[in-house]
Amino acid sequence: MLILGIESSCDETAVALVEDGHRILCSHISSQIALHRPYGGVVPELASRSHLEQFNPLLGLALQTAGCTYQDIDAIAVTVGPGLQGALMVGFTAAQTLSWLWQRPLLGVHHLEGHIYSAFLGTATEPQFPLLVLLVSGGHTQLLSMAAHGQYEIVANTRDDAVGEAFDKVARMLGLPYPGGPAIDQAAQSGNEQAFLFPTAMRHQADFSFSGLKTAVLYTVRELEAQTNPLPVADLCASFQRVAIDSLMLKLSRHLQSHRYQQVAIVGGVSANSRLRQQLQQLSQQQQWQSLIPPLDLCTDNAAMIAAAAYYRQRYCVAQPSFSLQVKPRLPLVA
Ligand code: KG4
Ligand code: ZN
Repeated sequence: MLILGIESSCDETAVALVEDGHRILCSHISSQIALHRPYGGVVPELASRSHLEQFNPLLGLALQTAGCTYQDIDAIAVTVGPGLQGALMVGFTAAQTLSWLWQRPLLGVHHLEGHIYSAFLGTATEPQFPLLVLLVSGGHTQLLSMAAHGQYEIVANTRDDAVGEAFDKVARMLGLPYPGGPAIDQAAQSGNEQAFLFPTAMRHQADFSFSGLKTAVLYTVRELEAQTNPLPVADLCASFQRVAIDSLMLKLSRHLQSHRYQQVAIVGGVSANSRLRQQLQQLSQQQQWQSLIPPLDLCTDNAAMIAAAAYYRQRYCVAQPSFSLQVKPRLPLVA
C-alpha cells in the first residue's frame, strides 16, 4: 500500500511516499530554521506562509523522485494535530484537495503517533508489544506504554517544560542559535560534563521536570556573566546535557526494572541527541530488549513518519482507522 504523507504542523513542510509503513520511496523536507532563526523561535504567521509556498514544489519533487504518478498512490495521510493552527491548515487543505481530486481516501494522523512509527521506517522490524516509547520533542516529554497498535498508556509526563524546550531555552541563554538541541549537543562534545553540578529534579518520582534545571543554568550564567571572563559555553552545555539526558534515562530504566518490554524506542527531535542514543544502546545491551532508534533524519519532523503511522492505523485499528478529519491544535494522543 503506497501512502502519500504530508506534514506541516510546525516549521517543517514535508512530503513523502512510503510503501507498507516501512519502505521510503522518497522523503522531502523543507526546513524553515533559517526563516525563524532571527526571532529565536517559530513565528506562526511566517510558518504558515512558508508552508503555502513550499508545498506544491515539494509534492512535484516527491512524485518525480519516486517515479510515481497519482494513480500509484492508495491513500493520503496528513497531520491533523497537535501543532500550530495555521500551519496545520495548509497541509490539511492541500491533502483534502488532493483526496478529492485524485479520489483517494484521506487519513488524519496524530503527529506524535507519527514520531512513534518513525522507529520502524527503513527497517524490516515490525512493532512487538508491549512496546515502551520515550517520546521527546520540542513540545512533549512522555514515556508511553503500548499494548497494541493505537493503545497507549502514559507512564510518565513532564510536569512543566518539554525536554526539547529546555534545550532550546538554555541554548538561547548561552547565545547559541535556534534550534538549541543540535547546537548544545555539538558544543557539549568539547566540554567538561562535571564542570557544573546542576540538580536532577523529581529524582524519586516517575514524572519528568525540566524547569528547575533550566533556572539553575540561568542563575549560573548570570553569576558567570557578572565576572568578566567569557562564558564557558562548552562546559555549561556538557553539564546541562548530562543532567537533562540522565534524568530521562533514570526514569526510563527505573520503569524497566519492574516492567517487561519486547522493544524500547526513543522518538522525536531529542532522540537525535548523541548522549541519549548512546545510553539507550548501552542499556539494551545489558538487558533483554530490542532498542529502536530512528536514523537522524527521521528524528525531527518529516512526512515519512506520517505515512507510516497512517498505514498501521488503517491496517490494525479497525475501531478508529484514522484521527478526525479536522485540524486540532491541541489533540491528545490518549483520550
Ligand atoms: O520532534 P521535533 O522536530 O519537533 C516537535 O514536534 O517538537 O523536535 C524538535 C526539538 C527541538 O526542541 C530541538 O532543539 C530538539 O528537538 N533537538 C535536539 C537535538 N536535535 C533536535 N535536542 C537535543 N539534542 C539534539 N541533537
Ligand atoms: Zn515533532
